[in-house]
Amino acid sequence: MSTIKAVTFNKYTKPDGFVLADLPMPTIERPGDVLIKVYAASINPIDVKRAVGILRIFNPEKFPARIGYDLAGVIESVGADVAEFKIGDEVFVRLAEDERGAFQEYVVASSKTVALKPTNLTFEEAASLPLASLTSLQGLLAVKGGLKDKTVFVTAGLSGTGSAACQLAKNVFGAAKVITTVSTSKVARIPELLGEGVVDEVIDYKTTAAGKVIPKGSLDVIYDTVGEALSYLHLMKPGGWIISIITLPSGQNLKALFPSIPSWFSLMLDGIFKINHYRASRYRVNYDSVVLVPTKEQLLDLKQWAEEGKLKPVVGKVVKFSDFEGVKKAFTEIYGAKGLTGKTVIKIIE
Ligand SMILES: NC(=O)c1ccc[n+]([C@@H]2O[C@H](COP(=O)([O-])OP(=O)(O)OC[C@H]3O[C@@H](n4cnc5c(N)ncnc54)[C@H](OP(=O)(O)O)[C@@H]3O)[C@@H](O)[C@H]2O)c1
Repeated sequence: MSTIKAVTFNKYTKPDGFVLADLPMPTIERPGDVLIKVYAASINPIDVKRAVGILRIFNPEKFPARIGYDLAGVIESVGADVAEFKIGDEVFVRLAEDERGAFQEYVVASSKTVALKPTNLTFEEAASLPLASLTSLQGLLAVKGGLKDKTVFVTAGLSGTGSAACQLAKNVFGAAKVITTVSTSKVARIPELLGEGVVDEVIDYKTTAAGKVIPKGSLDVIYDTVGEALSYLHLMKPGGWIISIITLPSGQNLKALFPSIPSWFSLMLDGIFKINHYRASRYRVNYDSVVLVPTKEQLLDLKQWAEEGKLKPVVGKVVKFSDFEGVKKAFTEIYGAKGLTGKTVIKIIE
């Protein structure tokens, strides 16, 4: 039996406990599936959060557990019902929950989740987009009334989600003003990495408190990727929107992704959500917490915007799959959630 190399974990662990395993070569079992040869895969915080067991209450891992949602690669073979793709097509995907395993040489995915790779991007760049950019797209779409001509504050403008959100807000949704925070060394890199004129005001959050320099009552929208938004309520205009991707979602939102979550857990999440909602409502501000529910249609939107130059991937670091110590270090850096620029990508094919 032929085998593939795959990053796995055999018990809940931080990245230093990850194992490079030999797994059976995946095969197409359903007629709508495709087999993808993985060229590049990007790390998301959820990869390491899952590995330490954050979802164990309602979605326990089956060990050895495979890791990773985001990849770009080449179609190796297609199921009997797949007419959309052919062998050799270059694709990218945010894998579905039950297909996880981006950090491995081959993966089987439903053709319903896969899209042709943006033609102007490398495999590393394409692999950096799906999960973070889809999240930011859905987060910004959750703002009722849209962003046109609005003032939008995106926290962490050079994180995976923040870098996409700044660009989508300005280049796709027509925000009038985009404000963001980054650490000191990144301030000067914003125009270079996101494009001139995408961000109108950059705040060095290490030296300056956003809550003090942004005028009171001036923001229409906060897209919060770091969990600070509820301390900025005084900055909001009445009727504005706070969208958080980092505070606990409502039980209802989480159920869309994990239908099996227990009722008590869902009720607890709903309770916490209502408290956040109430705090915002005292300022007449709308509050929502978004959990990504990936769609192929929106992945195709990302492809189009990437090809039009409206969404530039920000790849901060590329690590070779053959350097497994380097791979574990890269996951550990994501676990630390500090100091990185854009996305870290593992180059599977060298
Ligand atoms: N709800 C969902 O469906 C969903 C989807 C995707 C991600 N998320 C969550 O959203 C969060 C962000 O994800 P991500 O992929 O964007 O993370 P990421 O790319 O790993 O971003 C981390 C970066 O943010 C910067 N940062 C940290 N604290 C900051 C602060 N207070 N102000 C400004 N910048 C700060 C850090 O750079 P410096 O140290 O240089 O500042 C750090 O390197 C994670 O917790 C992730 O789990 C949720």
